Amino acid sequence: MSRAAADVIASRIKEDPRCVLGLATGSTPIGLYAELVNDCNAGEISFGEVSTYNLDEYRGLAGDHEQSYRHFMQKHLFDLVDVDPAATHVPDGANDDAEAACWDYEQSIFEAGGIDLQLLGLGHNGHIGFNEPSDEFPVNTHLVKLHERTIEANSRLFDHIDEVPREAYTMGVGTIMHAAEILVVASGSDKAQIVYDAFFGPVTPQVPASILQLHPNVTVIVDEEAGALCV
Ligand code: GLP
Repeated sequence: MSRAAADVIASRIKEDPRCVLGLATGSTPIGLYAELVNDCNAGEISFGEVSTYNLDEYRGLAGDHEQSYRHFMQKHLFDLVDVDPAATHVPDGANDDAEAACWDYEQSIFEAGGIDLQLLGLGHNGHIGFNEPSDEFPVNTHLVKLHERTIEANSRLFDHIDEVPREAYTMGVGTIMHAAEILVVASGSDKAQIVYDAFFGPVTPQVPASILQLHPNVTVIVDEEAGALCV
């Protein structure tokens, strides 16, 4: 899964060395990032002119906090490739002014000309970025209150569940849907049901990822376990 997904991203970088990538955190893309690091070290691709926008960040965590998504990206990709640090963007979790943090981020994506290829993982409840199940699809980058299930799932990376931030800044579903191309990755049997619901169930904000069925250019790459219900 990681190699196949890395090939999609590497091909895009080769086609357009100045492309704008939307990136994701979580356990799922770690192997994919390792593949891209290998490709870069082997001289097959260069991030020299690429710019990146991450989906989301915990509100209240500065970029140097070990559990921040900025830190995750530095560790798994940015510090290991030739990307220009100024061209890497993650919402500013340290900015307490939610309106400013979200507006600045949305503007910055717009000024970059939009996202060419957006990578997405899937939350167990169908969240994309941190767009949690709700009665509507939130459009732009916004402040969210995380659901209990998300806090629980993400607590594995913190010393104690009480340390998991309760809020985050995330691209909206509209921000994500404006990407020219979307690449979804999922692995493991615990994702089988949500992969099925997202791509074969009804399109509903109760399963945020289901809206991807309406996007004209989505590739979904899953391992056997995550794809088990789709055969
Ligand atoms: C987090 C992130 C999502 C990610 C999801 C799945 O909450 N905000 O962007 O896709 O969890 O993570 P994992 O790949 O670890 O299952």
